[in-house]
Amino acid sequence: MTGTSLVVTDLCVEFSGFVAVGGVSFDAHPGEVRFLIGPNGAGKTTCIDAITGLVKGTGSAKLGEKELLGRQVHRIVRLGVGRTFQTASVFDELTVLQNLDIAAGRHRSSTSLLRSRRGTDPSIELALEETGLTGELATPAGILSHGQKQWLEIAMLLVQDAKVLLLDEPVAGMSQDERTATGELLQRIAAKRIVVVVEHDMDFMRRYATRVTVLHQGRVLSQGTVAEVQADPRVQEVYLGTADAMTEG
Ligand SMILES: Nc1ncnc2c1ncn2[C@@H]1O[C@H](COP(=O)(O)OP(=O)(O)OP(=O)(O)O)[C@@H](O)[C@H]1O
Ligand SMILES: [Mg+2]
Repeated sequence: MTGTSLVVTDLCVEFSGFVAVGGVSFDAHPGEVRFLIGPNGAGKTTCIDAITGLVKGTGSAKLGEKELLGRQVHRIVRLGVGRTFQTASVFDELTVLQNLDIAAGRHRSSTSLLRSRRGTDPSIELALEETGLTGELATPAGILSHGQKQWLEIAMLLVQDAKVLLLDEPVAGMSQDERTATGELLQRIAAKRIVVVVEHDMDFMRRYATRVTVLHQGRVLSQGTVAEVQADPRVQEVYLGTADAMTEG
């Protein structure tokens, strides 16, 4: 295993007595596309919220030697942990480039934006290329396609040089072509970074997951390769209502 890993151990989150996450452990390494799946309310988003400091969690979430739990949100960001939200959180009124500038912590006047291609800094340039948004840098984020908005969010994390990308349902609402493009994007960025994908889409999971953790009612139901998890009777039972979603189709 090369590079720093994210190791979550016995993560617990309670909301006034309700156990949303009840002792979840998983790890993620650079070079794999790690999936967290599970039915609605399983605790997937809450795990990400706890790792990124948005909600209080107990247990441990370590990036290399550094414990993330108990740190403030901005400190966790500074350690290189980035996340996206279930609903895209880009600035619709601003252009792609302006959004990336903000992610990079830079401010650019709107006049300098007009012919700013040459002035784009290398990290932004790279993030645009990686996400296929190079041709859209002057496009207001609000008129991007749904898929492009998600890619912009990922580009913003790349500009911040996030070492860990926690992506909450990145392909929800995407077309098939956008899904494929996103899967390939995730595989590329996962080569050097830790990528954890929360997803409902079983087909997408099957195509791009290296390892999967299945959550159910705040606990780990099953963990392993796609094949191992799909063959697990407990997983099949939980997905019974959508049994065809777990089998080849
Ligand atoms: N701030 C909160 N206060 C109280 N309960 C919460 C809060 N956030 C989440 N929960 C509860 O915790 C449980 C886990 O929610 P979470 O959003 O993590 O699920 P999820 O797996 O992301 O589901 P989905 O697939 O619907 O996004 C749910 O029962 C939810 O209602
Ligand atoms: Mg969620």
